[in-house]
Amino acid sequence: MDSLQGKKIVLGITGSIAAYKSCLIIRQLIKKGAEVQVVITPAGKEFITPITLSALTSKPVISEFFAQRDGTWHSHVDLGLWADVMLIAPATASTIGKMANGVADNMLITTYLSMKAPVFIAPAMDLDMYAHPSTQQNLKTLQSYGNHIIEPGTGFLASKLEGKGRMEEPENIVACLEQFFSQQNCAKENTQQDSMKGKKVLITAGPTYEKIDPVRFIGNYSSGKMGFALANECARRGAQVELVCGPVSALMQTKFPNIHRIDVESAQEMFVACKELYPSMDSAILCAAVADFAPETTAEQKIKRTGDDMIIRLKPNPDIAASLGQMKKQGQTLVGFALETNDEESNAQAKLKKKNFDFIVLNSLKDEGAGFRTDTNKITIITAANKKDYPLKTKEEVAKDIVDELERL
Ligand code: CTP
Repeated sequence: MDSLQGKKIVLGITGSIAAYKSCLIIRQLIKKGAEVQVVITPAGKEFITPITLSALTSKPVISEFFAQRDGTWHSHVDLGLWADVMLIAPATASTIGKMANGVADNMLITTYLSMKAPVFIAPAMDLDMYAHPSTQQNLKTLQSYGNHIIEPGTGFLASKLEGKGRMEEPENIVACLEQFFSQQNCAKENTQQDSMKGKKVLITAGPTYEKIDPVRFIGNYSSGKMGFALANECARRGAQVELVCGPVSALMQTKFPNIHRIDVESAQEMFVACKELYPSMDSAILCAAVADFAPETTAEQKIKRTGDDMIIRLKPNPDIAASLGQMKKQGQTLVGFALETNDEESNAQAKLKKKNFDFIVLNSLKDEGAGFRTDTNKITIITAANKKDYPLKTKEEVAKDIVDELERL
């Protein structure tokens, strides 16, 4: 997980024996690419020195309202705007009480009151103080204001009190923040847009299986991941998606209700579905790894071993892409894929023309991390006039690049 990469974190440290653990928190946050600004209470400095903290964060530690050296004012408002998150660890009963009641008598509390980012609080005190109704009430108040309370064992505020009060371990606190940011990223990725609203897109995905007998087939290693990522991306942008997919794992799921999935097995079945759908579509993205040949006949019974050589005669399958290319009307777009092992660009250019694609997405099997059965892909988008190379990315990000290109047309 790299959800903390580049995140700006204000770390509030208060006067608890657990303050030494803040060093471990800082070390892990920095290792994961975050930037940390410490704000410490006067009592916090009794437990850990600002010099240690500034050495770890490579930033001066903020404690007073004014910098002692030159009298400049520390702006809690600026800190509140700068941060992606504020973490208070350890948080004493006293700080929790002040936060709940707005007692702004030190830099940490004023920063908290100006904070625009989410706030995480890791309480640290003995069990009696923790269990006291005052503390519990303050924690509930803070939670009702939208703050996140991190407790040992649960990660978040628990209903039982046993073993509570002790500060959660640094690695679990860091994991809570990581989880928070990765959920935020996920939510962003799933946010609906409407740039493709009203558009209809046909997408083919996965392999095809060409039956030899009731238990055997000719297939390929395509997982369907790239096609599903494309379907999700078009649907996220508001398009109505017809996803025609070959046999893929049951784990392959679509994320949006505006995706209509049609499961097929053979190239012939995929051909029939696509030919029927394409006339009413605005675009088609042909991502499926369609078998070029199928057995001339399918045995009705399981073929037995006889000891002799076995010859299966193959006949060519329909070329779905070429047929849709011929059907294509003005205003419709057609996008194809080319998976090549050699002479990549000239082969892709030839397919672009032959199949009447508007652009073709080339992956080379020479590139590590590209092609079948990976979560990543490295593509080149080729149009009649241009070509653009993209770096290795996740298939979800690659889908964004492809759909951006489709929208540009
Ligand atoms: N395609 C298709 N129907 C087929 C074969 C391919 O729709 N029967 C589509 C694929 O979905 C892809 C593009 O055509 O978008 C290119 O597929 P590829 O297998 O690389 O092309 P072929 O025409 O089969 O070329 P070759 O096997 O000679 O490389």
